[in-house]
Amino acid sequence: MEVIILPDKAKAALLVARIIARALRAKPDLVLGLATGRTMEPVYGLLVEMHQQAGLDFSRCATFNLDEYIGIPADHPGSYRRYMDAFLFDRVNLSQARTHLPDGIASDLSAECHRYEALIAQAGGIDLQLLGIGDDGHIGFNEPLSSLRSRTREKALTPATREQNAPQFGGDPAQVPGRALTMGVGTILDSRRCLLLVTGRSKAAILAQAVEGPITAMVPASALHLHPRCQVVADEEAASALRGIDQYRWLFAHEPEWADFQDLA
Ligand code: GLP
Repeated sequence: MEVIILPDKAKAALLVARIIARALRAKPDLVLGLATGRTMEPVYGLLVEMHQQAGLDFSRCATFNLDEYIGIPADHPGSYRRYMDAFLFDRVNLSQARTHLPDGIASDLSAECHRYEALIAQAGGIDLQLLGIGDDGHIGFNEPLSSLRSRTREKALTPATREQNAPQFGGDPAQVPGRALTMGVGTILDSRRCLLLVTGRSKAAILAQAVEGPITAMVPASALHLHPRCQVVADEEAASALRGIDQYRWLFAHEPEWADFQDLA
């Protein structure tokens, strides 16, 4: 795992957008794993800008989102399909047919989970998986105690998560669906590269547990230590509880992989 610390959330989002853009230019048929949440909004805004101003081409790319709520239709204002359309899909040259989210209103949810795993496999696996972290350490909707080998499946959401995601449902946690379909921790770990973006002081304590604590199902994001190529991008606020900050900064300044990104430091 590598931890990159940048001064603010705008620069952290810019690094992530530039990494995605570079991966897409190197492999136009990139299979991109996507995440939702407020943290990702500036990343998608930047990708749209790169598409409009620099011709970043999404036409051959395929996308797979981490998760979707159960029981709300795609056109519900709180659905992740709506979120993705609004922030990215409708604003770049990505045909809907190449964008995938689990179907939270499928009549057979277990079959839907198998179909989703099969679609990812058919696409050749995920090249680059973008991730955020929940206040309780979840990735996707893998809540604490999720099996570290889990695959796409149905999960119950914790009260903390429903509280965290209430703004998309008029501010009322009771309106947030109680269950979701989510890629499993094992599905996420199968991707070829993971990029975890974490910003804001409210995430500092959970980020420190995920990065510097033990690998534990109580903090599903800590499972990213089992991934051979996981990079964590944090702003100063989110990084403020990390003990190894000096070492992480030194590595970012000296590793050749990051030479082209020093303008963001
Ligand atoms: C939701 C998503 C997660 C995301 C989390 C963080 O729960 N299922 O994938 O990481 O929100 O949200 P935010 O970025 O708004 O803090």
